Amino acid sequence: MRVIVTEDYQELSYKASQLLSAKLQKKPESVIGFATGSTPIGMYKELIQSYNRKEVDFGQMSTFNLDEYVGLTREHPQSYYHFMQEQLFSHINVRPEKISFPPGIFSDAGQACQSYEDAMKAAGGVDLQILGIGVNGHIGFNEPDQHFTLYTHIVELAQKTIESNARFFGSEDEVPRSAITMGIKSIMDARSILLLASDRNKAEAVQQIFSGKVDPQIPATVLQLHPDVTLVVDREAASLLN
Ligand code: F6R
Repeated sequence: MRVIVTEDYQELSYKASQLLSAKLQKKPESVIGFATGSTPIGMYKELIQSYNRKEVDFGQMSTFNLDEYVGLTREHPQSYYHFMQEQLFSHINVRPEKISFPPGIFSDAGQACQSYEDAMKAAGGVDLQILGIGVNGHIGFNEPDQHFTLYTHIVELAQKTIESNARFFGSEDEVPRSAITMGIKSIMDARSILLLASDRNKAEAVQQIFSGKVDPQIPATVLQLHPDVTLVVDREAASLLN
């Protein structure tokens, strides 16, 4: 595992954007797995600036996002699809037909999950997966559990998650009760993984990645088994690493 420790969030965002751009320069038709959440926002801003300076081209890139709320249409202002449009996709030349998301609306959950796995496979697999990490070590919506769930699946949101997300919605009642997420094997099948973590509150979770033990109660520990993971962490998130 390669660890890049940066001075602050700004440098983290810049370094991460450079790594993603380098991947696209080397292989313009790369399949990129994107994440939502607050951590990658700075990287997305940097990528938009690089695009405006004509340093990177997204015209051949395909994308697969990690997760989506169940029950929200793509147009819903809190959908992760909408988030990606706002933060990145609408500002760059990614082709709309090359953007894939786990569906938030479906009639058959099993089929919806399987179709997403099939689409990733048909695209040739993910070349580079971007990840954030939860304070409890979650990746995607893969929360601490007794076992790993391997492929794309539906998860019930914890009451705590519903409460904390209520601030983005009109009220707690409007927060979706479930989400659809790539599973642990869907994530581990990516050829390379780029995990970003910023701030002191992520330091314990980052430290756990190096525990030497793989534990589904701290889902990110599984990354120790992946041959090509780069962590870009700021000084605060790295503060418990030796
Ligand atoms: C986002 C995702 C989540 C976040 C994680 C960290 O698509 O799947 O696992 O990466 O919750 O979120 P932030 O970056 O907001 O701290």
